[in-house]
Amino acid sequence: MDGNGRWAGKRGLPRTAGHTEGEENLARIVRIAVRRNIGWLTVFGFSTENWRRPRPEVRHILGLHEKLFGRVDELNELNVRIQWIGRPFDSPEARTPRYVQRAIRKAIASTADNTGMVLTVAFDYGGRSELVAAVDSARQSPDGVTTDSISANLCLPELPPVDVLVRTSGERRVSNFLLWQSAGAAIYFTDAPWPDFDAAELDAALALT
Ligand code: IPE
Ligand code: MG
Repeated sequence: MDGNGRWAGKRGLPRTAGHTEGEENLARIVRIAVRRNIGWLTVFGFSTENWRRPRPEVRHILGLHEKLFGRVDELNELNVRIQWIGRPFDSPEARTPRYVQRAIRKAIASTADNTGMVLTVAFDYGGRSELVAAVDSARQSPDGVTTDSISANLCLPELPPVDVLVRTSGERRVSNFLLWQSAGAAIYFTDAPWPDFDAAELDAALALT
């Protein structure tokens, strides 16, 4: 969900206002995606590198994730099951504060029985670190390191291969997102910063499937 900062900058607003608008837009896009019968929507909310941002900005983004994972009533009304992908909370480098961990666990448990779209939020996520951990675990599996054993040891093995990867805000390059899962994915590039990504943008991305 790239481009929140630039969206805000263009309006003379602080970057945090862009993140707030980005969170609101995710709620809108989730509604539209459900209407379009999308089965799986995965969003990059916060990367393993994003901890290096200024403390106040990180704190603001953490609060927005607490809010996002707190939208349980809305998700239940939409029959959406929420999932999370990222570094395990007990791994040595993990820095996710307790209140965000709690919000994540509660949202997953409270929407576990929903049978509609699966919304997966990547938080404290990095594709390369996911792969390092998966290969490390795959080594201990009976067959050793194989495509299947790596797939089975990813953070969320149930996540299907990516059909369309969306890059917002004019970034025309791959990021550290779902590297293994997006082999063969179509890529939709748009100049729209994430807060401006709307139904027409989503439909243009879906047209690539
Ligand atoms: C994406 O917007 C939000 C996060 C990475 C948390 P950015 O903050 O990267 O916005 P730009 O790229 O500076 O416009
Ligand atoms: Mg950015």
